Amino acid sequence: MTGNRVVTTRNRDFQQAKKAKMDEFYTSLSDIELELKHYSKHFNNKVVYCNCDDPRASNFFRYFSRNFERLGLKKLITTCYRSQDGERFGKNDSDQAVYLEYTGEKVGNSVPNVEEIGVKKLDGDGDFRSTESIELLKQADIVVTNPPFSLFSEYVSQLFEYGKKFVIIGNMNAVTYTSIFTLIQDNLMWYGPSIRSGDREFRVPDDYPITAAGSRIDDHGNKYIRVKGVRWFTNLDYPSRHEDLKLTKEYCPIANPTYANFDAIEVGKTLDIPKDYDGPMGVPITFLDKFNPDQFKILGSSKTLSRPMSQVADKGSYQAGGPRFYLANSDGTYRRMYERIVIQRK
Ligand SMILES: C[S@@+](CC[C@H](N)C(=O)[O-])C[C@H]1O[C@@H](n2cnc3c(N)ncnc32)[C@H](O)[C@@H]1O
Repeated sequence: MTGNRVVTTRNRDFQQAKKAKMDEFYTSLSDIELELKHYSKHFNNKVVYCNCDDPRASNFFRYFSRNFERLGLKKLITTCYRSQDGERFGKNDSDQAVYLEYTGEKVGNSVPNVEEIGVKKLDGDGDFRSTESIELLKQADIVVTNPPFSLFSEYVSQLFEYGKKFVIIGNMNAVTYTSIFTLIQDNLMWYGPSIRSGDREFRVPDDYPITAAGSRIDDHGNKYIRVKGVRWFTNLDYPSRHEDLKLTKEYCPIANPTYANFDAIEVGKTLDIPKDYDGPMGVPITFLDKFNPDQFKILGSSKTLSRPMSQVADKGSYQAGGPRFYLANSDGTYRRMYERIVIQRK
């Protein structure tokens, strides 16, 4: 984010390069397997589209081609993007955007590889927003991939525009984008079940600087990094999201004070949600990991619901900033809270 700051060309190039590199994290087969096992029944007789996936490299292609018969798929389509910035960012791109369609035919008794199935050329660059990609999208029942994170909102809005079911992986920070939060609030999209905490390993391009703890290079020279805050996002239902969160705490006005600029109580930890409180409650964003839409409804967030502190308190008595909730201190000042989701028992 650069805000209103004037960015120099060099600085902007760097920002774009950084963004492009962050868009090049390749999902591991084991993470894909751990998530998709929860949706097996949804795939029967369906067309699956992986629209940010070079079939020669993508583990999404690998997963669906290997499990084509078991899942009862009708067709698998993948498209490979040819970024115009490929060389500049040292990306290991093919020169040509291609797509592949597989309908389950075998070579002998085996699942064919990419060469045996054959890739076809696209006229354009394979951008998921291109006419060619949209024509393929229209054929699809379920879209499954790891899309470029810098385009996450646009990517999700296209899935809704075309009424698609989806299972996609991204960063949980996306829930702070108003467009994504609104979909979650309206129960149109939710987290998938397999990642609830910790970090996940992704393969990165060869020129990716790997300095962080936990990064590694395998025996073939492939680079991997570990990324925190990763979540699956989906609109396919699965049973465990309807299990009630077990609550043990009782409401306590000292532990659960009311915000100065919105009529809701503060609950600092999801597991501390009082079992006996029926009004609006502010909870951390990590609540979404436990969210059962039959137990709670989401009313909004501190971003959407908080009143400006200038209407509530004297200037200087609170730390100014974007819309957030504040709690009164005993000395007449106010403390600014982290972003909160406002929920209410159903
Ligand atoms: C996060 S990577 C994930 C790749 C692959 N889906 C996987 O999980 O291994 C996102 C991929 O989307 C591609 N991409 C970037 N911008 C794109 C666009 N506008 N349309 C389609 N694909 C794009 C990138 O080249 C990159 O390979």
